[in-house]
Amino acid sequence: MFDKTAEYYDLIYSGKDYAAEAVALTSIISAENPGAKSILDAACGTGEHDKHLARTFHVDGIDLQPESLEIARRKNPSGTYTIADMSNFALGKTYDAVLCLFSSIGYLTESEKVVAALTCFKNHLAPGGVILIEPWFTPEQWIEGALHMQTVDLPDVKICRMNLSELEGKLSKVHFHYLIGTPDGVRHFEEDHNLTLYTRDEMLGFFKAAGLSVEFRQSDQVRRGMYVARHPG
Ligand SMILES: C[S@@+](CC[C@H](N)C(=O)[O-])C[C@H]1O[C@@H](n2cnc3c(N)ncnc32)[C@H](O)[C@@H]1O
Repeated sequence: MFDKTAEYYDLIYSGKDYAAEAVALTSIISAENPGAKSILDAACGTGEHDKHLARTFHVDGIDLQPESLEIARRKNPSGTYTIADMSNFALGKTYDAVLCLFSSIGYLTESEKVVAALTCFKNHLAPGGVILIEPWFTPEQWIEGALHMQTVDLPDVKICRMNLSELEGKLSKVHFHYLIGTPDGVRHFEEDHNLTLYTRDEMLGFFKAAGLSVEFRQSDQVRRGMYVARHPG
């Protein structure tokens, strides 16, 4: 996934306002679960949300990518970061909130895996706990054939990342080309990211299948909106 490019992830997404997102997440968590103290960030990546959330909460994280977790550990030294698949993990701990942000849930390309992940999230909730999930695009939101480019232009690092949006059935295929220039030279990498386009109704059904009550909320800060879920009753 981001195995060759984890060290450049934060530079590529430096335009994304993680601080503002963390403020919005904090206010939702505190409203939904007053007194919340602990968070599990599932598919935490380089822990950019955690860096901000750790000022208010104890934050642990899981991800598949060891290189990203190493960066997250440096940003949030009090957190425990574990290599784990979000669709199959058991940390032996519970949390007041479980987060899964920036569309990471879409990497689970089979419905059964999404339900398995939501069940794992539920199993890691303390009483009164809340799950917040920022989804990937729905089929209606996906723009086939759109060309995307992100650039970084610093004195010692230049990056151009480009991709063309492709679709195969319900699978959105993001094939990134990177040109990364440093004083050591210019390198070219390619990366494949496959994420399923689930409809809103499919997602709501997955939460139900995992035994969770849920609502979808639009958000000014968290761009793709959020599913807010909890134990029913
Ligand atoms: C777009 S990044 C988001 C990272 C971070 N949450 C953020 O907001 O910057 C997607 C992350 O999902 C992770 N990921 C994908 N599939 C996963 C899985 N099955 N279990 C755990 N992490 C996964 C990737 O390694 C990557 O770090």
